[in-house]
Formats: sequence, C-alpha cells, structure tokens
Amino acid sequence: MAHDLEGMVSHILEEMHALQGAMLPILHAIQDSIGYVPEEAVPLVAKGLNVSRAEVHGVLTFYRHFRRTPPGKHVLQICCAESCQAMGANRLAEHAKKALGCDFHELSRDGLFSLEPVYCLGQCATSPAVMIDGEVHARMNPEKLDRLLEGTES
Ligand code: FES
Repeated sequence: MAHDLEGMVSHILEEMHALQGAMLPILHAIQDSIGYVPEEAVPLVAKGLNVSRAEVHGVLTFYRHFRRTPPGKHVLQICCAESCQAMGANRLAEHAKKALGCDFHELSRDGLFSLEPVYCLGQCATSPAVMIDGEVHARMNPEKLDRLLEGTES
C-alpha cells in the first residue's frame, strides 16, 4: 500500500485543504486510512497546506493520538480518564503493560498488539473500560483482560 501513499494523501488534501484548521482532520484521515501517519506523508502534507515540515511534525508529536509507526494487528486501548481511574484503571494498565511486555504507545513483545491510553469510552457507569479493535469491554479487571487478550491472540 506504501506506493499508494502519494495518491491517497493528495486525494485527502484535495478534499480537505480548504477546511479551517485543515491539518488535524487531514492527519486524522491519513491515520484512519492506513493506521498511522508515515514519515513520508509529512512533506506531502506540508506542501499541500503550504506550511513547513516542522509545523506538520509539531502537530504530529504534540497529539499522542497519532501513530508514527504501523500499529500491531490488534489495538488495545485502556481508558485512563477520571471515572475509570477511580475504579482501578491504573492497576489495569500496569497489568496490561506487564502482560504485553510494552509501555503505552508501543508494540507488544510479540508484535501483535498496540497498547494505547484513551480518554473516556462513554462507559463511565461501568468503569473501568477498555477497547480492543474498536469493541468496548466494560467492568474490566486483570483476569478478564487476560482472557480477552488470549481470545484475541491470533
Ligand atoms: S472515564 Fe472511562 S469510560 Fe468514561
């Protein structure tokens, strides 16, 4: 898909360059398309928006939401917002880091999972919550998380 990057980015630029504050939605659209924002996209976006590469880099590094490298086959997001924190999200996050052998914003030891924090999944009443590959799981605990991970490992 890499050879298509230029075409994909120019298509997105064409659709979105006139928006106010176009850079964020453009970077989001790139990540939505291929799962991350590759280094080679930076000069294309800079040129399309008539800004410097440093400006695009600045936005990419400021917002931790953006991935700079390809994600794992599966993405595990752990809610770290207030309500989940009050219900043990920190303990859950520590457990996930140990189980996967990586920190937030990294790939698991086996390369299968990306581990990411997220800030509220709309499940505050049934905290703590996690999301695996877009599917939300509430009332989570380390044992349930282990089972979920086992069921996802393939
Ligand atoms: S704070 Fe975690 S789901 Fe709302």
